Amino acid sequence: MFHRTGKEPTPEDFGALLQPSEALEPVLAKPVRAALLEWLMEIWAAEDLQAVGVQPRKKALFAGKPGTGKTTLAHHLAARLGLPMLAVRPDRMMTTYVSESAANVGRLFDAVAAHDGGPLLIFIDEFDSLASERVQSAHAPTNAYDHNHMVNTLLRRFDEYDGYIIAATNDPAVIDKALWRRFEIQIEIDLPGQFERERILERYLSPYRLNPVALTALADSMDTASPSLMRQWCENVKRQLVVGPKAGWDMGKRSVIARILASVSPHPDLGKPRLWSLGADDAAIASLPWPLTTEIASAAPADATRPETEQNGGNVVAMGPRQ
Ligand SMILES: Nc1ncnc2c1ncn2[C@@H]1O[C@H](COP(=O)(O)OP(=O)(O)OP(=O)(O)O)[C@@H](O)[C@H]1O
Ligand SMILES: [Mg+2]
Repeated sequence: MFHRTGKEPTPEDFGALLQPSEALEPVLAKPVRAALLEWLMEIWAAEDLQAVGVQPRKKALFAGKPGTGKTTLAHHLAARLGLPMLAVRPDRMMTTYVSESAANVGRLFDAVAAHDGGPLLIFIDEFDSLASERVQSAHAPTNAYDHNHMVNTLLRRFDEYDGYIIAATNDPAVIDKALWRRFEIQIEIDLPGQFERERILERYLSPYRLNPVALTALADSMDTASPSLMRQWCENVKRQLVVGPKAGWDMGKRSVIARILASVSPHPDLGKPRLWSLGADDAAIASLPWPLTTEIASAAPADATRPETEQNGGNVVAMGPRQ
């Protein structure tokens, strides 16, 4: 791919370069937020740590279902560190040419090292597609040999690289064990709990606002929804509210909700949230004020009386190096 252009590849040949100013803070459950803060504190204390002979951890693996915010979180972290993020696309690394994929791994790390805009955080999405377990058989086919070669190259480059690397996967179990052990931090990002769903709905429905009862009911009806699906749903509500009256569409509540549910589908790997099963018949739709407005009658925030313990969600975080 790159060898025929005659030019040294730049980081952007491997994916998008995202700037800190474009980052969005994801809504996260408390244990995940706590783990990130712990990591950031460690990074900010790098000099003090060096004085006692250790370095802050620099390699993290984010595992989670599609649309839970892995890319958003990595970008947010890069922004907190003041670094641009190179969002590597694995399809730019893989080629059908013998041994080219391993060479591309080398080219990627060389391009990042030579980047004249300063250090970057490397984010590798769909890491499982690049880094699945090596094949051990002596009779392995050529493509298996090439795959093993690429994983070995990744291992070597990971060990040599002194910057930040975050990899994301929907399926951590298939990742090569030796590579997996290179990650000093593993964070599992669960689907959001009720509290997080309410925050996500508030964020993406804004400037429209829901009263606390309607917000709680709607978040409850989206029980197994990913943040990505919820964002799409909310943005489609806003599109309908703005475009519908101009276009002469039926703006009755049930018609609008039915149109949205028909055009926004949950990821096939995730269950169907209740709202998608019951549609406009869901009780949450009955309590939804209509049309939505930017004001709410009683402006008490929905979470004001909620105890801290309810906000935890139950996410799993592992911050130790794998043995
Ligand atoms: N926790 C969250 N809080 C707020 N918004 C979120 C959150 N998670 C995802 N989103 C929104 O959903 C969309 C998809 O998120 P993102 O690409 O970060 O998910 P992902 O886990 O990387 O998905 P994939 O597995 O498909 O790569 C983005 O527009 C993002 O703004
Ligand atoms: Mg992603």
